[in-house]
Amino acid sequence: MQIHGNTILITGGTSGIGLAFAEEFVKHGNTVIITGRRQDRLEAIQQRIPGIVVKQSDIADAAAREELVEWVYANYPATNVLINNAGVQLAMDLSQPVDPRRIHEEINTNLVGPVHLGSLFAPHLANQENPVIINVTSGLAWLPAAFMPVYCATKAAMHSFTLSQRWQLRNTNIKVIELAPPSVDTELGHDRRADKTQSHGGIPIPEFIQEAMAALMEGELEAAIGGAKDLRAKGETIFEAFNSRF
Ligand SMILES: NC(=O)c1ccc[n+]([C@@H]2O[C@H](COP(=O)([O-])OP(=O)(O)OC[C@H]3O[C@@H](n4cnc5c(N)ncnc54)[C@H](OP(=O)(O)O)[C@@H]3O)[C@@H](O)[C@H]2O)c1
Repeated sequence: MQIHGNTILITGGTSGIGLAFAEEFVKHGNTVIITGRRQDRLEAIQQRIPGIVVKQSDIADAAAREELVEWVYANYPATNVLINNAGVQLAMDLSQPVDPRRIHEEINTNLVGPVHLGSLFAPHLANQENPVIINVTSGLAWLPAAFMPVYCATKAAMHSFTLSQRWQLRNTNIKVIELAPPSVDTELGHDRRADKTQSHGGIPIPEFIQEAMAALMEGELEAAIGGAKDLRAKGETIFEAFNSRF
C-alpha cells in the first residue's frame, strides 16, 4: 500500500501496536485518527503528538461504531484507510463455568466490531483514492494457544472473514490486508499479570513495526510478521508441542 498521504482511522490506538502504527504513519505524512475507550490516554497522546487526532469510541458497542462512522464522514471525509486493530485477550479455564460476559466482550471487540465497522465504511472507502482495510489478526489464527481459547477463535474467525471480505470487495478498488503479528511486547492480556508493568514478552514494538511497514510497502495481502510466519506454515501440526510450553 501507499504509506504516505492517507487519512487513516486506527481502532485501539491508546497503546501497543495501534499507537506505534499511529506514530509511524504520522512520521510518513499521513493524517491519523486513533480511537480507544481510555480518554485520559487519548488526551495524553494528543498532547504528546499533536499530529494525531483522537476520538473516544468503544468498538464493542454497535451504536458507538455507527456514531464513529458518522463523525469520521463529517470531520475527516478523506479517510481512505481503516485499520481494525483494537483487541482484547482473555485467558479462560474451560474446566469451570465461564462468565458469558467475558466471552461476549472478547467476541464483540475482536470479531463483531471489525466485521461491522468494515461494512459500515466499505461504501465510503470505495469512493476514495487508494482505499485499504487492514485487519490485525494474529499468528494464533493458525495455531491456538489453548489457555486463551476464545481469543484464538476470534483471530481464526477474522482470518477466515478477511478472505471473504477480500473476495466480496474484489470488484471495488479497496485492498483488504490481513496483518498477523507474532508475540509483541505490549499491554495485551495484562489483566492476567499481577504486576501490570510486567513485560508481556514477545518482540519489541519497534522491531514489529519495522517489519510490518516493510510488508505493507511490499503490498503483501496476507502479511504474517516474524514468528507468525512459522505459525502459519506449521499451524496445528505443532499444536501439542506449542501448548506444552504454557
Ligand atoms: N501483542 C501481541 O503479542 C499481539 C499478537 C498478535 C496480535 N495482536 C493484536 O494486535 C492488536 C493490538 O493489540 P496490542 O498488542 O497492541 O495490545 P494493547 O497494547 O493491549 O492495545 C489494545 C488496544 O485496543 C484497544 N481496545 C481494547 N478494547 C477496545 C474497545 N472495546 N474499544 C476500543 N478500543 C479497544 C485498547 O484501548 P482502550 O483500552 O483505551 O480501549 C488499546 O488501544 C490486537 O488486535 C491484538 O489481538 C497482538
